[in-house]
Amino acid sequence: MAKLVVGIGGGVAAYKTAMAVSQLVQRGHDVHVVLTRGGRKFVGAATLAALCGRPPVEDTYDPAFPLGPHIELARGAAMLIIAPATARILASCAWALADDLLSTLYLARDCPTLMAPAMNATMWQQPAVQRNVLQLQRDGVDFIGPESGWLSCRDQGPGRMVEPQRLVEAIERKLGLGGEGSVPADG
Ligand SMILES: Cc1cc2nc3c(=O)[nH]c(=O)nc-3n(C[C@H](O)[C@H](O)[C@H](O)COP(=O)(O)O)c2cc1C
Repeated sequence: MAKLVVGIGGGVAAYKTAMAVSQLVQRGHDVHVVLTRGGRKFVGAATLAALCGRPPVEDTYDPAFPLGPHIELARGAAMLIIAPATARILASCAWALADDLLSTLYLARDCPTLMAPAMNATMWQQPAVQRNVLQLQRDGVDFIGPESGWLSCRDQGPGRMVEPQRLVEAIERKLGLGGEGSVPADG
């Protein structure tokens, strides 16, 4: 059982990450969710608490973590997954801003990291966003997606987050477990 920290950012695709969290739990992983300020607008804490068996952590100063949740959650983690990775999260991590719990945890972790970006196509194609992605890749972060297709803003184009099943498969491949097609399609 791997300790996985899943950061959920503020995009419509957060519901896909909730499904991926459920699949990861069903497959025996020890999942800890960090919800950003944006993320909590899109997926409820009660849903995530029920899916992974513990409440999502939202506050850098949460008194349940005397050493700081960024330290305690990062410690022993096999992987940090950020999905959806918003433009803000990409920038905050690329620039080491540590301006919220998730981006502080990003700096405190020493485990492999996988980001699944999602955003409007024009946002995704901005040179500033692409610069941040390139910087994060140079820093050793792996990316999955985004795919091209229907976007919730009613456009078609690049920016759609990968489906939950693909995300789970990528996580398990990176952990050295399982392979393509081994994850059930239902959440
Ligand atoms: C309906 C709606 C959908 C959004 N979808 C995205 C998105 O997919 N990607 C993104 O980068 N920002 C998106 N945003 C903007 C972010 O929520 C906003 O930049 C926020 O500050 C991100 O916060 P976070 O990084 O703390 O999650 C969306 C906003 C709204 C109102």
